Amino acid sequence: MKFIDRKEELKLLNKHRYKGLGVIYGRRRVGKTTLLRKAFEDIDHIYYQAVRLPADIIYREMAKIVGEHLGDPALKSGGVSSIEIILKSLNKSGRRTNLIIDEAGYIMESDPSFTSVMQRFIDKGKRTFGIFLSGSTISIMEREMGEKSPLWGRLDFTLEVPPLKFSHLKEYWDNIPFRQLASYYGCLGGIPYHWEKVKPKSNFFSSIKEAFLTPGAPLYQEIPFLLKEELRETQKYMVVLQAISEGRRRFSKISDFSGIPVQSLSKYLGVLQELRWIKQTLPVGTSRGIRGGLWYINDPLFRFWFKFIMPNRHLIEENISDEVIERIKQQWDTFMGEVYEKIALEITLSLIKKKKMPFVREIGKWWDSSTEMDILGINTGKEWSIAGEVKWGKFTQKDFNNFMMKLNSLPIKRAKDAKILLFSGKGFDLRYDRDILYIKGDKPLKAKYT
Ligand SMILES: Nc1ncnc2c1ncn2[C@@H]1O[C@H](COP(=O)(O)OP(=O)(O)O)[C@@H](O)[C@H]1O
Ligand SMILES: [Mg+2]
Repeated sequence: MKFIDRKEELKLLNKHRYKGLGVIYGRRRVGKTTLLRKAFEDIDHIYYQAVRLPADIIYREMAKIVGEHLGDPALKSGGVSSIEIILKSLNKSGRRTNLIIDEAGYIMESDPSFTSVMQRFIDKGKRTFGIFLSGSTISIMEREMGEKSPLWGRLDFTLEVPPLKFSHLKEYWDNIPFRQLASYYGCLGGIPYHWEKVKPKSNFFSSIKEAFLTPGAPLYQEIPFLLKEELRETQKYMVVLQAISEGRRRFSKISDFSGIPVQSLSKYLGVLQELRWIKQTLPVGTSRGIRGGLWYINDPLFRFWFKFIMPNRHLIEENISDEVIERIKQQWDTFMGEVYEKIALEITLSLIKKKKMPFVREIGKWWDSSTEMDILGINTGKEWSIAGEVKWGKFTQKDFNNFMMKLNSLPIKRAKDAKILLFSGKGFDLRYDRDILYIKGDKPLKAKYT
């Protein structure tokens, strides 16, 4: 495996080696286990991965692993089934180490006293080892991040492991032309597990066919699997996701379609948002509660799956996948518009980070009843500093003129340092202006910006 990025995360984990108490969480398959393995690979550590079993079996297994590491016969014997004894024995041994408990959510499920026992142990003071609890978002979030949790206020850090970015996919598969790579990103997103399931071929659609379009294909069942693993009421979440992916963006529309009353819909949207599978978008510079704004599918695999796999399951089950491929091909360019906007925003953010674009307080989409801007970065709320337009196809003079008209009619003023960025997936067919930054695919056309 080619290990990609995670520099910030490794830095944070390194800082807390041997002493910290922290929680690492994130969506299933995002790379938590891989990150922990990497962070501790060359220092003393004890790694235990819990499974969905009764607590005494879990603790007995953990005791054996800790016992073997310490050479402690009592723990090794398999007679110990208490987390308290494990922690105390570890401390008594004086060993400087790191205890990593992966899938800690399963322990919390089968032993509700786990965190209070942990808390009592922590509060006793000195210990010779760091404790790292990792788990998937919801199980950990529900129990461990809230004020009600006994560990609240005692954690040295919490680390959310996010999906990797488009630029990382580029590092993962070098030598794939931009439009093709972006297409892979459009259906696989930033989850390296999905990347591993696909063999990139010169014909994009044929590798998609292999990955998704037969009953046994590795990603065909991925979404139902994830929903089942992460959530209870899967049916309800399924319809909410379906509603959004079919373009119902407003709270009331999602409620109508799903049959979930508005009073309870916030809960479902909130959980899906916590998982980063969906996102709420408001025009930059505005804020409204969970009932305002527009809802989008945030995770590319979800978006692809609900758009192309779910409605075509009957064809896939019957192995008529060529028909499905035809449908996908016909809609691909439209589908990619939104994907490219996501990539364009990532590129813009990295230019800001490298100080090649002005600082902005907030950046994202902006719209009102008549106008829509793909990218608008504002610095004070009253002035914009970055404005951008994103076209998956060719960017023509006419597109440019329309964009300038929109820009000039914005109710927000232009800041002195304002910059304009134009993105095109295919290139430009217009008169260039030297004050504008043109980006073809993911490459700025001016060298000083790369
Ligand atoms: N940083 C990374 N670079 C490359 N591949 C990764 C990275 N993180 C995870 N992977 C791959 O993705 C798969 C799933 O990662 P894993 O760590 O098991 O996720 P999680 O523990 O969050 O469910 C692994 O098989 C691993 O090979
Ligand atoms: Mg894992």
